Amino acid sequence: MGALRGGGCVFAEEEAAVILEAAGGDGGELERLVRERVAGRPLEHLVGWAAFAGLRVVVEAGVFVPRRRTELLVREAVREAPDGAVVVDLCCGSGAIGAAIAAYGEGRIRLTTDADGDTVFEAVPAGGERGRGGAVGPARDGEAGDAGGGGADGERGGGADGGPGRGGFGAVDTDGEGEWGGFGVVDGDGEGGRGGFEVVAADVDGAAVASARRNLGAGRVFQGDLFGALPVGLRGRVDVLVVNAPYVPSAAIATMPAEARLHEAGIALDGGGDGLDVQRRIVAGAREWLSPGGRLLIETSEDQAPLTSALFEAAGLAPRVVRDESLDATVVVGHAGARAPQRECGTTAPGHQGARCSRRDGKPERTSRRAD
Ligand SMILES: C[S@@+](CC[C@H](N)C(=O)[O-])C[C@H]1O[C@@H](n2cnc3c(N)ncnc32)[C@H](O)[C@@H]1O
Repeated sequence: MGALRGGGCVFAEEEAAVILEAAGGDGGELERLVRERVAGRPLEHLVGWAAFAGLRVVVEAGVFVPRRRTELLVREAVREAPDGAVVVDLCCGSGAIGAAIAAYGEGRIRLTTDADGDTVFEAVPAGGERGRGGAVGPARDGEAGDAGGGGADGERGGGADGGPGRGGFGAVDTDGEGEWGGFGVVDGDGEGGRGGFEVVAADVDGAAVASARRNLGAGRVFQGDLFGALPVGLRGRVDVLVVNAPYVPSAAIATMPAEARLHEAGIALDGGGDGLDVQRRIVAGAREWLSPGGRLLIETSEDQAPLTSALFEAAGLAPRVVRDESLDATVVVGHAGARAPQRECGTTAPGHQGARCSRRDGKPERTSRRAD
């Protein structure tokens, strides 16, 4: 721990515990991990995972490390998503956002209030076949300076559950053509506490896609430029489009902490002149992909929120800004008009709500999935 502290690691004690676990009792490996950490490699890239929203999320070398502040985006997304919602995590990086939304839908994580009165995600205690551990990870935040409103400062942290592994997801449609068949509602434990969501993710970067496939399942993650990566059958069917795209202004990249600047892909950070180049393209294209009444949620900075909101307005996506001071997080939420009636699940069995029932897995409708 002395080496970590001497090397400037702000949370040396917590990092030491994570590194010790990763070394698995191998002295040589422990030495290598400490050496590389002191040399400035992000802890998450060294051990191969990041704590996010009560999960351990696989993050391979070069991939953007999910930030704690992005949990606000997850929170707002699950608030907005109806049961059985088709959710797309665009610019997914490691797929942390999509993985957390899926986990929430499956009842593997939940929202709670911590000792400071803040709303946080936590892993649902291990039970039966899930076999997951409780939240153990320390919060890591406050590292180095912020990039001046960008999406990639030094802030990370959150709880961690027992492992990144995921179960299967059932049928997949990976060809990107024709009618969207869907994946079926994900419901982790078979008796589940939630309606579940159909989560799809996409990113242009191959390394990010590789990590996201490990977090979400291979058939759910597509590679390509923004909407061009998505199966065309999803057009007009996305209930919640959730996005943390790069939004650091190009000129601010040089002021970012070295961990981000040197170890995360430039394409993950650089949002162009005003930081909004990628957001601009996403907002302009969103309506074509959203279902009637669908939601678009984009993480931005407090300073950039008025600009992001103006993009939403111009695209006819009535915006509202959500701010969480304790996470220093800002999200713009827009909606494409009133929600359409939910799709039929096609069963008249007890517990279903006839034409309003959104379930597609033959289980009774649940309506109390909201976070609050
Ligand atoms: C700030 S990172 C966020 C990653 C992830 N959403 C998260 O919060 O952890 C931005 C991501 O956008 C991706 N990206 C940038 N430009 C893109 C584009 N034109 N099409 C698809 N993905 C893009 C990058 O590869 C990177 O993974």
